[in-house]
Amino acid sequence: MCGIVGILGTGPVAGQIVDALKRLEYRGYDSAGIATLEAGRLTRRRAEGKLRNLETRLAAAPLEGAIGIGHTRWATHGKPSEANAHPHASEKLAVVHNGIIENFKALREELSAKGHKLETETDSEVAAFLVTDELAAGKSPIEAVAAALPRMRGAYALAYLFDGEDNLLIGARRGAPLAVGYGQGEMYLGSDALALAPFTDLIAYLEEGDWVVLTREGAVFHDATGKVVTRRKIRSPAGGLLIEKGNYRHFMAKEIHEQPEVVGHTLAHYIDMSEQRVRPFAWPVDPAKLSRITICACGTAYMAGLIGKYWIERFARLPVEIDVASEYRYREAPVDASGVTIVISQSGETADTLASLRYAKENGSKIVGIVNVPTSSISRLSDSLAPTLAGPEIGVASTKAFTCQLAVMAAIAISLGQARGTLDEASAAALVAELVAIPGLIAQALKLEPAVEAIAHSLAKARDVLYLGRGTAYPLALEGALKLKELSYIHAEGYAAGELKHGPIALIDEAMPVIVIAPRDPVFEKTVSNMQEVAARGGRIILIGDKSAAEEAAVGLAHFLAMPEMGHEFAPIVYAATVQMIAYHTAVIMGKDADQPRNLAKSVTVE
Ligand code: F6R
Repeated sequence: MCGIVGILGTGPVAGQIVDALKRLEYRGYDSAGIATLEAGRLTRRRAEGKLRNLETRLAAAPLEGAIGIGHTRWATHGKPSEANAHPHASEKLAVVHNGIIENFKALREELSAKGHKLETETDSEVAAFLVTDELAAGKSPIEAVAAALPRMRGAYALAYLFDGEDNLLIGARRGAPLAVGYGQGEMYLGSDALALAPFTDLIAYLEEGDWVVLTREGAVFHDATGKVVTRRKIRSPAGGLLIEKGNYRHFMAKEIHEQPEVVGHTLAHYIDMSEQRVRPFAWPVDPAKLSRITICACGTAYMAGLIGKYWIERFARLPVEIDVASEYRYREAPVDASGVTIVISQSGETADTLASLRYAKENGSKIVGIVNVPTSSISRLSDSLAPTLAGPEIGVASTKAFTCQLAVMAAIAISLGQARGTLDEASAAALVAELVAIPGLIAQALKLEPAVEAIAHSLAKARDVLYLGRGTAYPLALEGALKLKELSYIHAEGYAAGELKHGPIALIDEAMPVIVIAPRDPVFEKTVSNMQEVAARGGRIILIGDKSAAEEAAVGLAHFLAMPEMGHEFAPIVYAATVQMIAYHTAVIMGKDADQPRNLAKSVTVE
């Protein structure tokens, strides 16, 4: 997590650095800071909390330097405070860091024993003093960084600024992304191309282990061995304008409402709309020869994988193993060396997902990446890329990326079924017809917003909330609970409705709202039975189902959200929008920051 930026400019750069940090705030917002050279001397401004606090500080005490680095933090080691805010500095240099330096304790002890005064609780500060120590031994800044980098274990993207060096920045990457941007007499470093988009679209990415020396004249890349290497410049598609909220109060609201459009856009990539056929997907392995598929992802992307598992197993008759990436990467799972691993990620930079990808790849598996950011590490490492065309997602809680991930999973599951001969033409055509109707159905579901808002008023008073579902509505129940937790901080749990009587039913009382997600699918009646069990124990049921569901449920409902009628296979893509609105409105009513919930960051680049 954390966003880093560095600029070698032709005029004062503090304003540009703040602009870039605004675009990186999705990576963390616990504190922010900038260092520049004022008349050749290192000067810092830092502030706890969101970027606007740093802006206030800069307005009171501006910085004029034409070279600088900046940081927006998601705290890992050390509480979010000004003292722990980056840039970290010695008398000789300042540094910003994204990642975790795992051996920082040993390094800190070693550096302290040598007389260096480390003042923060962070792991990152050793990155400053390791290089300072090498400088003290007489090395040049470039030699000092080259000597210090191999001593740090863990993950880092770093940008160094040196006292008295007004034409030098040094960047380094291992396990966390870093891009170089080329401007007109200016050079840039940034965690991603989006951060640099206002200044340039000409980008080169550091590869794993690379470090780079930047002057206003250009960039010299070195690989992990120190050898000078060439890294290809590309035109980045990231838009130059800062994405705006338009008429919406939050990015999250805007992104929820963009779903009919972006899901439609994504589907059009996979489906030939004139023929109403799924385009064959470029599987990196002959689909007929596959014996199973493995899926890895984190958080909401994992929920998309869970739903995808139902579709692949049903349409392509292929067993799917799925795991959260933080477990998969360490549990030494046997990898099918002739198989395929699907990794799903909005950002394409999630550390655990990336590590799982690498584990699977090293063990012979081919990788299909379902990714929203086409320039990300996961996109670049995938053998076959299955893009989601959600556009930039700024709200920290994933919404439109999730439904686009589902759209992709649905399309490639159909294509897999056809390629394996487990779906005949007619069945595939029926599924495609259902799928292409989804964007219109999401638009209809969004019209429920006033009803959702009314329900959110009652949810805002709850201490705990249960979500229940069966079939593909079960992972959606998990997703609903995750969304409510992360946005409103109300404790919520998702359960397979049939699992309720094996324990969680003990939680039910008159105070417990139970949100039942019950699309009209083959298990609808089973879900209704489970709902009756809840009703018999006085639970407050909020039913999300089609128009006649409330009648058929034949139980007293606290609330009912009447969804449009639709085929059942892809209902979770539509029901997702309702579940997202519930969490969003509950959070807003409770006065929480729906775009930047506490303790979270959009791109989780640490494990
Ligand atoms: C929850 C949410 C997270 C992400 C997770 C994975 O609303 O957004 O759970 O889904 O951090 O992120 P990506 O998809 O970028 O790998």
